[in-house]
Amino acid sequence: MMNILVIGSGGREHALAWQCAKDSNVKKVYVAPGNAGTALESKCQNIVLKSSNDDAGEHSAVIDFCQSNAIDMVIVGPEAPLVTGIVDACRDAGIPAWGPTAYCAQLEGSKTFAKEFMEQNNIPTAAYQGFTDTTAAKAYIDEQGAPIVIKADGLAAGKGVIVAETIEQAHDAIDDMLADNKFGDAGSRVVIEQFLQGEEASFICMIDGDNILPMATSQDHKRAFEGDTGPNTGGMGAYSPAPVVTQAVHDKVMTQVIQPVVDAMKDAGHPYTGFLYAGLMIDKAGDPYVIEFNCRFGDPETQPILMRLQSSMVDLVAQGLAGKLPNEAMWDERPALGIVIASKGYPETSSKGDVIAGLPELDANNDNPVKVFHAGTAFSNENNDEALSNEKEVVTNGGRVLCVTALADSISDAQQAALAVTGAISFDGAQYRRDIGHHAIARKNN
Ligand code: AMP
Ligand code: GLY
Repeated sequence: MMNILVIGSGGREHALAWQCAKDSNVKKVYVAPGNAGTALESKCQNIVLKSSNDDAGEHSAVIDFCQSNAIDMVIVGPEAPLVTGIVDACRDAGIPAWGPTAYCAQLEGSKTFAKEFMEQNNIPTAAYQGFTDTTAAKAYIDEQGAPIVIKADGLAAGKGVIVAETIEQAHDAIDDMLADNKFGDAGSRVVIEQFLQGEEASFICMIDGDNILPMATSQDHKRAFEGDTGPNTGGMGAYSPAPVVTQAVHDKVMTQVIQPVVDAMKDAGHPYTGFLYAGLMIDKAGDPYVIEFNCRFGDPETQPILMRLQSSMVDLVAQGLAGKLPNEAMWDERPALGIVIASKGYPETSSKGDVIAGLPELDANNDNPVKVFHAGTAFSNENNDEALSNEKEVVTNGGRVLCVTALADSISDAQQAALAVTGAISFDGAQYRRDIGHHAIARKNN
C-alpha cells in the first residue's frame, strides 16, 4: 500500500488527491496544506509543512515529512515550489517526486527564458522583446502599435499579463509594472509581445525525460466575465476535450511544440520530467502558437481532465518516475466541464471567511457525475475543539473558491449539470460565469 504527498491547496490539488485516493493500492494521501475539500475527502489528510519562510526550509520540511511518513511519491501541484527546486531537493534526498527540476521550471518561472528557449528551438510563438527601461518599452510600443501584449517577466499567478487594446493602455501597463512596481520583482522586467489572434487551448502532457503522454485536451476561460470580457484571472472554468484541437492540430502541437521541448531539454542535460502545459493560440489555419508554458498541471483544467481519466494517476506517475510512461491513457468518452465560483473582488482582491451554503455531498457517482472540487476553502472553526469537528462550517479562503465539475453526454449537458449545482451553492459575493464551454457549444451549433 502506498502513501502519497500532494503539495498545494487549490482545485487542481483536490482533483489530484481525489484521483490518487481512488486507487486501491493507495493507503493515504497527505495534502500540504490542502483545503476543506481535501480534508473531507476519503483517505486524504491535510498537513502543514511550513517550518520556515525560506525555500531551503520549506524543502527540508517536505523531505523530513516524507522520510518519517513512508511517502512513496510526491506530486507537486503549483509552480512556486517547482521553480525553487523542490523536485531537485527531493531527488537529492532519494524521494521520488513528480515534477520538473528548477532548471526546467524556468519555462514558466521566467517569460524571458521561455521566449529565448522557443526562439532557439523554433517553437512557434509571438514575436517579442524584453525591457527593463520604461522609455525604451514605450518607444517600442509606439513603433509596434496596438493591440499589443505586456507581460511581467516573473511569476504573477496568471495575472501579470495585460492585453492592451490601445497604445495608452499599453503605456499604463508599463508604468504599473516598471515604474510603480505593481507586480513586485516579477514585473521589474517585462516582455512585450505581438497580439495573437485565434482560439486558445490548453495542451498538457506528462513527460518522463523521454516519453510523452498527452493528457486529454482542454480549454480554459481566462477572463473574469461572460463573453470573455474583464480582467485576466487564473481561470474561471474549463472543459475537456477542446474541439479546436483536431487530430491535425494535435499532431502539429506534438511535433512543433512538445517534442522540441523534450529534445532540447535532454540535449541541455536537463531532461524534462513532470507535467508540461503549453497554453496555445490556434489560428484560423489550425497552426498553434505558444502563448506560455507552465511547468505543472493547469487549474482549473485539471478538474475536468481528471474527471475523465480512467487510468490510475498513481500508476501513470509511477511509470513516469521509472522513465516508462505509456504514450496513451484511458479516458471517459464523455466531455467534462468545470465552473469556478470565485469570491468577492476576485481577481483584484479576494474575500475570506464568507460561509458557503449548499455544498453537495463530496462524491461523484455514476448516476450523478458532478464533483465539487474545493480551492480557496477552509473550516470556520479551524482552531476550535475537536468535538466540534462534525459541525465545521466551510468558508471562503481565497480568490477561486470552488470548481463545480460535471461529466455528461455532451458539452451543453455538462454545462447545464454544472450550472444546476453551481446555482445551489451560495456565499456572500460569489461570482461565476454561466457561459463556460461557449466555444465548444457554438462549434456544435454551427
Ligand atoms: P499568459 O499568462 O501568458 O497565459 O497570458 C494570459 C492570457 O492573456 C492568455 O491566456 C491569453 O488570453 C492572453 N494572451 C497572452 N499573450 C497573448 C498574445 N500574445 N496574444 C493574444 N493574447 C494573449
Ligand atoms: N488555467 C491556467 C493555468 O493553470 O495557468
